[in-house]
Amino acid sequence: MPRIDILWAYLVLAFCVFGVQASSFLSDTLIRKDQVQNVLEHQPVRGQPFCQDTTTGPIETTMCHYETVESVNEELYSNLKELVQTPFFKYFQVDLYRECPFWHENGFCMNRECGITTVDESEIPEKWRAASLSSIELPPLDERIQLPGCYYRDSDYCFLDDMTEGDYVDLTQVPERYTGYSGPSAHRVWRSIYEENCFGLSELNLMTGRSSAPVSLPDTLTDVLREDLNGEDDGGECLEKRVYYKIISGMHASISTHICLEYLNQTTGEMGPNLQCFVTRVASHPERLQYIYFNTVLLLRAVARIGPYLSAYDYCSTETISPLDHKHSPRSEDEIRTLNKLSNVLTIAEHVGKFDERVLFRGENANILKQEFKEHFRNVSRIMDCVGCDKCRLWGKVQTTGLATALKILFEMDENALDPHKNTNLLQRSEVVALINTLHRFSESLQAVERFREMWKETDDQDSQQLIHEAEKAVVGNVNRLQSHIYGLVASCKRRTLSCLSLLLEVWGRLGEVISPLRTEL
Ligand SMILES: Cc1cc2nc3c(=O)[nH]c(=O)nc-3n(C[C@H](O)[C@H](O)[C@H](O)COP(=O)(O)OP(=O)(O)OC[C@H]3O[C@@H](n4cnc5c(N)ncnc54)[C@H](O)[C@@H]3O)c2cc1C
Ligand SMILES: *[C@@H]1O[C@H](CO)[C@@H](O)[C@H](O)[C@H]1NC(C)=O
Ligand SMILES: *[C@@H]1O[C@H](CO)[C@@H](O)[C@H](O)[C@H]1NC(C)=O
Repeated sequence: MPRIDILWAYLVLAFCVFGVQASSFLSDTLIRKDQVQNVLEHQPVRGQPFCQDTTTGPIETTMCHYETVESVNEELYSNLKELVQTPFFKYFQVDLYRECPFWHENGFCMNRECGITTVDESEIPEKWRAASLSSIELPPLDERIQLPGCYYRDSDYCFLDDMTEGDYVDLTQVPERYTGYSGPSAHRVWRSIYEENCFGLSELNLMTGRSSAPVSLPDTLTDVLREDLNGEDDGGECLEKRVYYKIISGMHASISTHICLEYLNQTTGEMGPNLQCFVTRVASHPERLQYIYFNTVLLLRAVARIGPYLSAYDYCSTETISPLDHKHSPRSEDEIRTLNKLSNVLTIAEHVGKFDERVLFRGENANILKQEFKEHFRNVSRIMDCVGCDKCRLWGKVQTTGLATALKILFEMDENALDPHKNTNLLQRSEVVALINTLHRFSESLQAVERFREMWKETDDQDSQQLIHEAEKAVVGNVNRLQSHIYGLVASCKRRTLSCLSLLLEVWGRLGEVISPLRTEL
């Protein structure tokens, strides 16, 4: 197809012409004067657990306001924090040593912090060991699409371990925090997650997509470009693609927040919160913070939907009893504590878990789109095998499994399927554990923002200017990387579809429109 090649030639040429210009334009405006202050000086709302029944909210496709989540987060977090320490929720079985299926990964992290300690099987209550679970939880072979060590069913949004290999970990003993894992290996993983077949393009993609709902936190570059794009209609498919992007970007932002909350202080060798890290990675891009809220609401909605099932689940670590009879036998202390905390979480989830899944996957191509969405998400779960740091891989797996479980609950299960009496084996133990631990991660990130707000309050004018200045410098570095990402995208799209190409061209065209008036001014 020679015509495509001509188009590519134009595209690359256009890039060379605009490249330099684009960089100065972006670096001037990426961090606008007030946005770091807006994030960090925001007065949180407290103690009004309301979620008005409006059909639109600032969090696109959710019906809930930030303030609502904010107002309940302290309570949510304190309950989750105790819940994830109960025996049922702290043990996780996972195969951490599958080979990276997509490229040869040799950038293994040698830092001590990257390693994890596993737990001996004898510590795990017998009924939660792989041998016991695999005999009851694995779906029949003909429903599984099996790969070495893992499988998925048609309804799954991620690959699940088939429990033939793997270790047990106590999640409370391996906190997600700074490990020192970074550089090309980490960037490659993030990049391939964003660029999964051009489905979610990276931050560039959102720059061209106008968000239909007003946002209460000021946006970054997105906002600047959006002004030029008013009047553009959101394509039907765009909503789902944006949702995909937000889920990923929100997870990335939450991981970054945890890194910044427990960052290595080079002078003292101790872990502690690092405000510069948070300003650079999150506060200077308020939309990333928005997506942490977005993910929280999505997870809460899934937890609320599956509430009856979770309440009927067997959390008892000793006897083996069917989940539905155990109401009659005396409960252990652990089980009572688990159910008690869980019930508090469920109450909150019902109030604020107002994600509106009905607006997604509705149009003409709904099924194809959903299928694609699932495939991309499954691929993300496999990309986790390419993360070159054990602790990061562990938390990457927990969180992609948790989010995939939430998506499955929202998009694959109807009321009938959710009935715990009809369907006792709806989720595997690992999915339940991942779902709750992932919600805990996000809630903890929101809680951490409060901590950084306190630190910001204590920073004098000069130091806060310095913090912003450093964040700006980091952005300039990223813009340079962004340019090479575009080259990467060009190359990978070229090998794939024409529609992907036209999408890129569109992105390019719009960028050009915004940039050219500036060029004439100069
Ligand atoms: C699955 C996974 C888990 C990890 N877990 C840990 C961990 O537990 N501890 C640890 O210390 N390190 C962890 N890392 C590494 C960590 O995420 C960073 O890659 C590393 O700290 C280097 O950070 P960076 O500042 O170069 O930017 P990165 O976070 O690597 O980001 C790369 C680029 O992506 C863009 N970007 C950044 N954030 C967002 C966002 N929220 N949305 C959209 N685009 C964004 C920016 O352009 C940025 O330059 C993990 C990495 C992966 C892939
Ligand atoms: C590291 O610790 C020292 C001593 O407590 C402190 O003065 C410094 O601000 C810390 N550095 C960071 C980046 O937090
Ligand atoms: C998932 O990754 C595999 C391997 O790279 C690739 O063949 C497949 O097309 C990808 N699927 C999607 C939907 O991204």
